[in-house]
Amino acid sequence: MCDVHDHDLEPLEHDEWLLDTPLVRAFVDDVRGAIARSASAEEACRLVEPAFRRLLATPDWLPAAFQEDAPDSGMGGGIGQWLLFRAADRSLCLFSLVVPPGSMTPVHDHLAWGLVGLYRGNQDEEFYEPGDGRLDLVRQRPLEPGDYYVLLPPRDDVHRVRTTSDVTSVSIHLLANDTGCVLRHTFDEETGEARPFRSGYVNAECVETGG
Ligand SMILES: [Fe+2]
Repeated sequence: MCDVHDHDLEPLEHDEWLLDTPLVRAFVDDVRGAIARSASAEEACRLVEPAFRRLLATPDWLPAAFQEDAPDSGMGGGIGQWLLFRAADRSLCLFSLVVPPGSMTPVHDHLAWGLVGLYRGNQDEEFYEPGDGRLDLVRQRPLEPGDYYVLLPPRDDVHRVRTTSDVTSVSIHLLANDTGCVLRHTFDEETGEARPFRSGYVNAECVETGG
């Protein structure tokens, strides 16, 4: 399954380590090992979970620079999507999502499996199902630091991240694509209508511009 990439992005010249630390390298090694042993997206999620839990439980590995909000981001609301790592073939990425108090992302999809876990503050996990002319909330759960959930398209892919604490929340996202760069969707809250959406990253480009 991991050889099939459903996107039109050019490969990068090499893996990109925006946060290049032994801990992040070891985590990505663990994830790649788990993916190599997996026969399905579901199994990959299951095998990645122990390393993801350890990452969330590790204190102070995420520098303050990756926990800052971003007034002009593609997500709106000061929400910052900071890339930590992505694979050259765009099959894997790790990023932090920084959501100020009172802010929430649009309802959106990812078009890839992944895990989302809370590092700081509080968020609600909210899953949606776009229906015929409407958008149904199918699951809602408050999250504490260390809590995480799985994204597994097509059923568990459409969600929203909402900060419920009076401090900025930071969640860690591991996805099996280059999530900031793929063309995906937001969904209208009233009608469920899908609209094209590319969130971008605060600290990385989607198309290589260097020579
Ligand atoms: Fe998301």
